[in-house]
Amino acid sequence: MPVTEEARSLLKSAKSIAVLTGAGISAESGIPTFRGAAGLWKQFRPEELATPEAFARDPQTVWEWYHWRRKLIAQAKPNAGHQALARLEQVAPSFTLITQNVDGLHQAAGSKEVLELHGSIWKLRCTQCGCEWVDRNTSESGQLVYCQCGALARPGVVWFGESLPPGVWQSAEQAIKSCDLLLVAGTSAVVYPAAGLVPLASSSGAKVIEINIEPSPMSGIVNVQLTGRAGEILPNLIQESSLANL
Ligand code: OAD
Repeated sequence: MPVTEEARSLLKSAKSIAVLTGAGISAESGIPTFRGAAGLWKQFRPEELATPEAFARDPQTVWEWYHWRRKLIAQAKPNAGHQALARLEQVAPSFTLITQNVDGLHQAAGSKEVLELHGSIWKLRCTQCGCEWVDRNTSESGQLVYCQCGALARPGVVWFGESLPPGVWQSAEQAIKSCDLLLVAGTSAVVYPAAGLVPLASSSGAKVIEINIEPSPMSGIVNVQLTGRAGEILPNLIQESSLANL
């Protein structure tokens, strides 16, 4: 579906823009999504790999899966969808990018401020002293990773059953409540609390544009649905001509 005039005019007139992205925006960079036919959760069980209980039971298996994902993501490059959002940040009067992705591809595309609701696969956190650090080493395969204090480290991501990083969540809610346009790109919008940002935007008076290859549970409440790939629709929507008034 081509980008509609309605979508262009919403973007042109927006004074404050928020964006919520999910795994679909990185699909064209070769990173598998979680749901859908080829999704990670078809192949793997989240309760064995992405919960604090799974890590306590079998840290070796959990680390093996994260080492595999880190290698996969390290080979990926940002695509035209990530790049279009980085460009939008530069020209929009007020802009907040909120992502559920842990891959860091928005930052690699040049986005400066990214609210990572589910953490980052490139951060590690000590299970004892709680300290966090960035680690881009992808040479490990099966090893457990340890903190300098000697305790076991874990991936710095949010697992099922865990709270979102409080400061990040508050900033996201604030941006959603004060935006006049929300772009929702490449998320199945089924994982809460992130998915709840979409109805929060609507009830706070913002217009919502959804970009996805298929409808989501949020499609019924959005103002404009653009059906297709984020890597094609976003650059098309965020053209210089659409940004003339920003
Ligand atoms: P999902 O895998 O649930 O959904 C990906 C969405 O992207 C689907 O709605 C697809 O239709 C859509 N999609 C796929 N390719 C696309 C493309 N090229 N362009 C546009 N849309 C496309 O991923 P998320 O919604 O991000 O959490 O999942 C949310 C959370 O569930 C993740 O952060 C992760 C997962 O379990 C945790 O691990 C805590």
